[in-house]
Amino acid sequence: MKQKLLWLLVNLCRFVVAAAFIFSGVTKMIDPHGVEYKLQDYAEAFGLASLMPSTVAIVAGMLLALVEFRLGFCAFFGIYRRITARILLVFMLLFTPLTLYLALTNPVTDCGCFGEALVLTNWQTFGKNIILLLCTIVMVVWGRTRQLRIISESRQWIILIYSQIFVLCLGFYALWRLPLVDFRPFHIGANIPEQMQDGGDAEFVTTYLMEKDGKQQWFGLEDYPDSTWTYVDSKTEVIGELIPAAIDNLQMYDQTTGEDLTDMVLADEGYTFLLISPSLEDADDGHMDAYNRIYDFCQANDYRFLCLTSSNDSCVVRWQEMTGAEYPFCHTDNLTLKTMVRSNPGLLLLKGGVVIGKWPFTDMPDIDEDSPRLEQSELGRLHVEGNAKMALKFFLWFIIPLLVVTFLDRVWWGTSIVINRMRKKHNIVKQLNKKTMRKKIVAGNWKMNLNLQEGVALATELKEALAAEKPNCDVIICTPFIHLATVAGITEGTVIGLGAENCADKEKGAYTGEVSAAQVKSTGAQYVILGHSERRTYYGETVEILKEKVDLALANGLKVIFCIGEVLEEREAGKQNEVVAAQLESLYHLSEEQLANVILAYEPVWAIGTGKTATAEQAQEIHEFIRGIIAGNFSEKAAEEISILYGGSCKPSNAKEIFSKPDVDGGLIGGAALKCADFKGIIDAWN
Ligand code: PGA
Repeated sequence: MKQKLLWLLVNLCRFVVAAAFIFSGVTKMIDPHGVEYKLQDYAEAFGLASLMPSTVAIVAGMLLALVEFRLGFCAFFGIYRRITARILLVFMLLFTPLTLYLALTNPVTDCGCFGEALVLTNWQTFGKNIILLLCTIVMVVWGRTRQLRIISESRQWIILIYSQIFVLCLGFYALWRLPLVDFRPFHIGANIPEQMQDGGDAEFVTTYLMEKDGKQQWFGLEDYPDSTWTYVDSKTEVIGELIPAAIDNLQMYDQTTGEDLTDMVLADEGYTFLLISPSLEDADDGHMDAYNRIYDFCQANDYRFLCLTSSNDSCVVRWQEMTGAEYPFCHTDNLTLKTMVRSNPGLLLLKGGVVIGKWPFTDMPDIDEDSPRLEQSELGRLHVEGNAKMALKFFLWFIIPLLVVTFLDRVWWGTSIVINRMRKKHNIVKQLNKKTMRKKIVAGNWKMNLNLQEGVALATELKEALAAEKPNCDVIICTPFIHLATVAGITEGTVIGLGAENCADKEKGAYTGEVSAAQVKSTGAQYVILGHSERRTYYGETVEILKEKVDLALANGLKVIFCIGEVLEEREAGKQNEVVAAQLESLYHLSEEQLANVILAYEPVWAIGTGKTATAEQAQEIHEFIRGIIAGNFSEKAAEEISILYGGSCKPSNAKEIFSKPDVDGGLIGGAALKCADFKGIIDAWN
């Protein structure tokens, strides 16, 4: 439940962040000049205007937009999840304090993070950033594996490159032409006089404080008292909501007379061309013939043509000299001009205060004095595509190829997942089939525990328990030498096999204290443990000695339980495979027939008697490796037939899981073999 909630939280946060960053990137990229102006505003507010010339601001703005878009896109599709989450966090850690500073000092009134599409105050931006910061923290802390992938890792690069190229094209298109979507109040179809009016249902209500006979009272206009009252004070309140006008500073002052032409131009029911240049010093003069031709066209047809600029008179004169401009000039606020059209110069066609057309200098209308009048031509007609329609077009252009690629990927991905699952299932089934052919064994290793009587009692108890309930595997007990003969009498004719824990590396003779393989065999035992880590460690048994022992045991008709396993340092150094491969060298000289009488026991030394068990996965991994070595040194068949037991803190509680692995064929049990109930519990793991 907790995991599910966490998963939901991570993905919710990731989509919130993705939406914000994609929107932010796209709205900036749609209007690089807008970002340029905003960056210049910031630079100016911080007294760094000289560091932010136009080109630097444009490049910086587009880079910022590209990075934002890429981060949002990666977060959305689950691409490079870890690094994306971290970069997003760094991004938010940088910008959140910065926006707090901006909110406190208010050097620029709106932050510009979503271009002109959504204008936020600095405090709103700070609030938004706090939310995004929290979301990115969630993504970094819990999101590593929980972020749902929408596209496969192997094909994510296709959509990533595609989307980046797409947004870059969007940016270059806006630079070369005009923003694809115009969010400003001068968009085509906009009624400028309407945009200049405040909105909302605000009313200004004035009340008056009056006094009579030392008594003061507030009155409205409707109940204004007679002249016996004297006026003391008044106040005016705004009731309702006041939405400030979208255009609040549009004035056109004739450059020569200083006369304000705004109302006249906006009220004119005829056509007016406005050539807009925030600064003539930086304006493009490569298309001056086009501007002059349009002016000639206006002259011939009696349309108004004005050039609006915020440059000073000397700049105007220089421009006139340079381009041969004969059209009249008006002074207008610089910021308003920049808002009117994102091109310097750009052209606006107005009729009755409505924006009929808009052109950048790269795409001026091809007209001259002989062209048909606007009333009769397409040019003079309003073609409002509308922001929504344009945005939809853009969205579809972007989204359809993206959907196609993602869909194909999902189909392909889904199919390959199913195929892989089937393959895996098939392999497991194959392996389990092989496993059922192998002997399943649980062997006990009593080590140097239990006296003869205790051993007899344990063997008897086990015999009775297994007689009552037949085991589903071979059961072996390996006892100290002194128990063997007596216990053999107990296990004879039962399902229990008997083994020794060691035998000598010499055939017979003057080896005081040693017990030969032949002597072991003579007790009635059928098995012998060789190569146990305790013997290797405490009694210096080497690969060579063990080779002798193995040969003698096999020659005397004993089956060998051959132990291998690494110590902790070797495991930590990742050398376990190397170690077990070297230990197995004691067996490489055997024939395949001899090997058929060997059972392997993988016992990581760090797990023996320590209570630490290897995980089932660790056991499976190394058992599979060991089987591979047997296949390489003997044959596939030998590898498939040899039983490999796991040993090391094996208990009734973990046996089932370990034994369930396809390459684990049972266990060699130490401590838990000393109690009948525990040992039986492990045997029952095979049921
Ligand atoms: P353990 O010993 O089960 O007590 O860890 C296993 C062994 O040494 O064979």
